[in-house]
Amino acid sequence: MTGPAGLYVHVPFCLTRCGYCDFNTYEGLDHLRSPYVEALATEARLAAPGWRGVAFASVFFGGGTPTTLPPADLVKLLDHLRGAFDVVDGAEVTVEANPDTVDERSLAAIRAGGVTRLSIGAQSFDPDVLRALERIHGPPSVRAAFIAARAVGFDALNVDLIYGAHGETLASWRRTLEEALALEPDHVSAYALTVEPATPLGWKVAAGLVPAPDPDLQADMYETACGAFAAAGFEHYEVSNWAVPGRRSVRGTWRRSTPAGSPQGERSGWGRRRGASNASSSACGWPTGCRPDGSMPPSPNACWPAGWRSGEPAGSPSPIVACSWRTTWSSPWPADRWLAVDGLDC
Ligand SMILES: C[S@@+](CC[C@H](N)C(=O)[O-])C[C@H]1O[C@@H](n2cnc3c(N)ncnc32)[C@H](O)[C@@H]1O
Ligand code: SF4
Repeated sequence: MTGPAGLYVHVPFCLTRCGYCDFNTYEGLDHLRSPYVEALATEARLAAPGWRGVAFASVFFGGGTPTTLPPADLVKLLDHLRGAFDVVDGAEVTVEANPDTVDERSLAAIRAGGVTRLSIGAQSFDPDVLRALERIHGPPSVRAAFIAARAVGFDALNVDLIYGAHGETLASWRRTLEEALALEPDHVSAYALTVEPATPLGWKVAAGLVPAPDPDLQADMYETACGAFAAAGFEHYEVSNWAVPGRRSVRGTWRRSTPAGSPQGERSGWGRRRGASNASSSACGWPTGCRPDGSMPPSPNACWPAGWRSGEPAGSPSPIVACSWRTTWSSPWPADRWLAVDGLDC
């Protein structure tokens, strides 16, 4: 194999689940964070022989919310990945962050540990829209996260935005764009809210309790975003991604639908993963075998015995299963240039 590759590391923990999100992530499982990190290290070690001679130009810790891990664990894991793979000097190392999971101290630790880029999930600067999205933070947390990130030396900062939540107007979206740009990120990801069927939002839309996003309004929002980012000097290099010149992310990206609602393509999940490994899953207490036929359960966490979602005591022996949800990541890297590492084999 020749040419650089990208490494994606999945961290499936969140403080709470947002109602719209179908990513493979869980709340209330903090006691599994540490064993999960160990499982990732095992997984990386097992995958490494297949990637000898391949240089990795990016490492992306995505989720879920990787910043729910203790900073020391994230740094230890990054060190381990550098030991297992040929991560090039100057590689882009990104960590996704929910604003309520970071402060100056934690950010300083991961910056010093080699993280070069932070992606902060702001979604909106309108408190009503954040509530509609069931986000746990308000706009001040986003600003505080940016200020803290800059203070500790991050200059590569992405902000994630979502447009089209119930109640969001074009005027509100314009204000969100202004507020986001005022933080002077070097990269912005703006996603049309997608109603995923097996999420609380999906169920509410199906039951007629909440209207689906209006595609015409989302199209207007998309065009408004294009205009605002262009005026601010950003290049539009992928349907949902904008960057100041020279600051495009080198990692792969996941894609959602276009503003008009037509499928944008890849929802095929992981690029190239190592084959299923009972070793890593059982190492973190997540045996395999949720669905012998590999089918997806009807809802997030559906395979998890009652009680586990809200924090079963650490170390409880349980026939727990992990293959409950699939993330919709895709990558522009060719399949043999894209390794996803997680500890959730099924
Ligand atoms: C893993 S999360 C980012 C980090 C962190 N977990 C957070 O939410 O703050 C990746 C991004 O996916 C986007 N996203 C998730 N579900 C979506 C949906 N149904 N429609 C549009 N965007 C979505 C959000 O913008 C979110 O920031
Ligand atoms: S949007 Fe982010 S914080 Fe919310 S559930 Fe999804 S991964 Fe977790």
